[in-house]
Amino acid sequence: MLEKIHKLLEEVESFGAQSKDQVEEYRIKWLSKKGEVTALFDDFKNVPSDLKKEVGQKLNLLKTKAQEKINSLKEKFESESNSNEKKDIDLTLPAYPTLQTGSRHPLSLVKEQIIDIFARIGFTVSDGKEIEDDWHNFSALNTPENHPARDMQDTFYVNLNPEMVLRTQTSSVQVHIMEYQKPPIRTISPGRVYRNEAISARAHCQFHQVEGLYIDEHVSFADLKQTLLYFSKEMFGAETKIRLRPSYFPFTEPSAEMDISCTICKGAGCNVCKYTGWVEILGCGMVDPQVLTNCSIDPNKYKGFAFGMGIERISMLKYQVKDLRLFFENDVRFLKQFTSA
Ligand code: DAH
Repeated sequence: MLEKIHKLLEEVESFGAQSKDQVEEYRIKWLSKKGEVTALFDDFKNVPSDLKKEVGQKLNLLKTKAQEKINSLKEKFESESNSNEKKDIDLTLPAYPTLQTGSRHPLSLVKEQIIDIFARIGFTVSDGKEIEDDWHNFSALNTPENHPARDMQDTFYVNLNPEMVLRTQTSSVQVHIMEYQKPPIRTISPGRVYRNEAISARAHCQFHQVEGLYIDEHVSFADLKQTLLYFSKEMFGAETKIRLRPSYFPFTEPSAEMDISCTICKGAGCNVCKYTGWVEILGCGMVDPQVLTNCSIDPNKYKGFAFGMGIERISMLKYQVKDLRLFFENDVRFLKQFTSA
């Protein structure tokens, strides 16, 4: 028996497998239930008692060595196959091609651009409320009940309460700001507004405006004009021209509407500008002294200008979008044409 053990020990020590399968083959040969080492253990009971100690020790040594050899070879083959797998990765391949990335909504892009342009000349951004009381949306802006100017803005009333409305204009934010902040004030207020209008290519019941307000001691109409010229050139290009036409808003005096030279035909005449060469983009004016008084600002000391524009209108001109409804349908084929760049 000792001889057999020695022979097997030699076999174990010199064994070097070529493959994982061969390791498994030898594990079965030596250590499985019917393996040679196991058979020797079964035979152990027949060993004469004076040899039991020596044979027992050798047998245990054989089993340990065989087990160690099998384990270390198994480990070797496993780590080799792992590193082969890693070698198979080609890091120069392009990224997974069908990964879809989102894009920013065109109205958000234009809003951010407007904020950016005015931030450069010191305008902060202020937020208002979409559900507004009559005072802030109308009365404080010189538009009391039964004033004909209310007809210009078909209003949604909240719970049929004549005192609460979905704001029809971001001009309401002006009133809040003037009520709690002392001049100088220089701020713009972007936000959503609502009007009870039939939805078409040119009108919607919900849209977005940006209101601008500047109040200080010596603000003039020339400041207003220069501010709007700067904005128009930054937004539509350095060659853009502006013109102001007299108009009427209850909260400004004098009031004006501003046109820019048509971005499509550059003034030559096309169907976007109805062959006039000009397109209207905003309303503006000097804040009416009565509005200042309504907000507890002394009109003898302070003056100011205000303006309001529609973000959809600016976006339509900038991107040549012909139908306002496209902005609200969220069709990805439309949206993905706009990038954040
Ligand atoms: N709130 C007006 C509208 O929705 C736009 C507007 C006109 C705002 C003149 C102003 C302004 O601040 O001075 O039609």
